[in-house]
Amino acid sequence: MLKAQAPLMPASQHSSESAETRTALRGSRPRDTPPAPSQLAFVPFVSVDNMMKIVNQIGLPTMLREMSAYLEADFERWEQFDKSPRVAAHSKEGVIELMPTSDGATYGFKYVNGHPANMARGFQTVTAFGVLAKVSNGYPVLLTEMTILTALRTAATSVVAAKYLAPAGASVMAMIGNGTQCEFQVAAFRELLGIESVRLYDIDRHATDKAVRNLATSGIDVVACNSAVEAIAGAQIVTTCTADKQYATILTDDMIGTGVHINAIGGDCPGKTELQRALVQRADIFVEYAPQTRIEGEIQQLPPDHRVTELWQVINGDAKGRSSDGELTLFDSVGFAIEDFSALRYVHDQLETTGHFTKLDMIADPDDPRDLFGMINRAGSA
Ligand SMILES: NC(=O)c1ccc[n+]([C@@H]2O[C@H](COP(=O)([O-])OP(=O)(O)OC[C@H]3O[C@@H](n4cnc5c(N)ncnc54)[C@H](O)[C@@H]3O)[C@@H](O)[C@H]2O)c1
Repeated sequence: MLKAQAPLMPASQHSSESAETRTALRGSRPRDTPPAPSQLAFVPFVSVDNMMKIVNQIGLPTMLREMSAYLEADFERWEQFDKSPRVAAHSKEGVIELMPTSDGATYGFKYVNGHPANMARGFQTVTAFGVLAKVSNGYPVLLTEMTILTALRTAATSVVAAKYLAPAGASVMAMIGNGTQCEFQVAAFRELLGIESVRLYDIDRHATDKAVRNLATSGIDVVACNSAVEAIAGAQIVTTCTADKQYATILTDDMIGTGVHINAIGGDCPGKTELQRALVQRADIFVEYAPQTRIEGEIQQLPPDHRVTELWQVINGDAKGRSSDGELTLFDSVGFAIEDFSALRYVHDQLETTGHFTKLDMIADPDDPRDLFGMINRAGSA
């Protein structure tokens, strides 16, 4: 692993590289000399340590704000992207998923797992890493941790949706499920939507206590509650973010009145939901990408032709968001590849200014592109 050396090229410019540029990047070395990696071999890599440095240098509120702008920009050009439901490998313990997409110039994917029983075994429920690559030649331009980045992008996505769907002037949010994602959600709703008070509930009191501690200096009024019913009292926004590999019932129909926005992010797998069917049925439902949400979201409980609106249509003005004060809106979020693409694009754009990355010798790049075999031989005889 080397420290960053060559200046980075914006992801969007990679496709215009000329043959001369490639030669210059690869460098000219005599054919017989033992191979040193060419510049084309190196891929910028953001470790967990460097991701934390990026967050701390830019500042969490600024990063959430800037990332939400990247998300909205990509939602606006939704139709340019390749889209498909993510590829999921299910087991009795959880799921491992690959989430690919491309805008024609840049390709991105995330590897992510979801193992609700992990917490009790001392592992995290969700971990992730991701890649951006040039469509023009397939070479990666970024490899990064995405466990932290997923928490940031999920929080930023929730707030982008709430901007169009939550009641005007909402100031109180209930946060049910106080695990990993919790404080990121709260920070984003405070920074970007002006939420003043958050009411926390988790079946595990240690999780709530942890969130109370972490939010102590956030400037938001934090109330620890003893039940979901207590938590939702007076809340105009209810976020559910629990992890359980079953059809759970975190909210029942009789718990929720009118004029509420539900940000349901925890139910994201077949057989893993958080809301009672009658509540889902009563709500006006907004989703990221309907073909994936029908498999993984709350709406897996409804008939496959139940009416839903994709968020990008609202952002583009092609469909209505909240249309009355009394409306019950539901953002049935499962997390979609384009959101990770936006987050990867954002991180890639921060590398040059923050310098918080290393370069991995990751792509085998022989002087003669056909002579991979010879490159190994020359390395062996060096
Ligand atoms: N929609 C998205 O884009 C997105 C993104 C990230 C995570 N997720 C999902 O969100 C969920 C939470 O993720 P996390 O990383 O915070 O997990 P986590 O394991 O860190 O936290 C989950 C919390 O839920 C609590 N919980 C479980 N059942 C509960 C119940 N009945 N009532 C109240 N609390 C309960 C647990 O005690 C735990 O503290 C997971 O299911 C994950 O797959 C979705």
